[in-house]
Amino acid sequence: MKLIFLGPPGAGKGTQAERIAAAQKIAHISTGDMLRAEMREGTELGLAAKAIIERGELVPDDVIIGMVKNRIQQPDCAGGFLFDGFPRTVAQADALSALCEIDCVINIDVPFARLVDRISGRRMCPGCGAAFHVSNYTAETCDKCGATLYQRDDDQAETVQNRLRVYEAQTQPLIDYYASRQLLTTVDGDQTVDAVTAQIAAALR
Ligand code: AP5
Repeated sequence: MKLIFLGPPGAGKGTQAERIAAAQKIAHISTGDMLRAEMREGTELGLAAKAIIERGELVPDDVIIGMVKNRIQQPDCAGGFLFDGFPRTVAQADALSALCEIDCVINIDVPFARLVDRISGRRMCPGCGAAFHVSNYTAETCDKCGATLYQRDDDQAETVQNRLRVYEAQTQPLIDYYASRQLLTTVDGDQTVDAVTAQIAAALR
């Protein structure tokens, strides 16, 4: 199965992608996680991406498409994959359609007013990439791998506003793009994590 999770920053794409990819036994491909790994390793790509990400803008399409092309050729993608945070522009969606056929696009819908709270309270694990929220997880270390949690640089209030503007201008049009291709299912992301997972699982059945 080949899936896409669409949604604004903080909608819960990463949280749900981790669960659904494990349940479906498919690879979870997060372009955001891939870029953050490049940044941690201090590669040329990571250094170039860092400044863009910290402004809340998008990394150029050709860089992202090249990264995804390589990633889906890896052995763990042979049985299918789930894109989280890709595609984010019509150019990326067009490039993807030339690479493979997508089975389903899940759009996780959350009111904008909720997103800022979700993002500003998020804490990330640098070890396994898990996301937590300060409202229900107060420990300083990850309960899965023990690493010390951190706050993403692009989760600062000013950057978040720009990420939301960029989402509206460049990514939201993909909702119509995939709806017109009869691939889109929208789920209500403004529920508990378990309820959202159940709605996505039902849509995939
Ligand atoms: P990326 O890492 O993809 O960030 P994003 O799309 O902005 O999404 P987030 O990771 O902020 O949120 P999410 O929807 O995954 O929510 P999460 O599950 O963490 O991209 C970062 C940057 O990289 C981009 O801005 C861009 O610069 C660049 N980039 C990446 N891909 C690119 C591409 N394709 N093209 C160009 N540039 C690209 O949840 C958020 C919080 O809410 C967590 O604390 C979580 O615990 C909590 N939460 C989750 N679900 C619920 C729920 N149901 N109820 C209550 N709380 C919840």
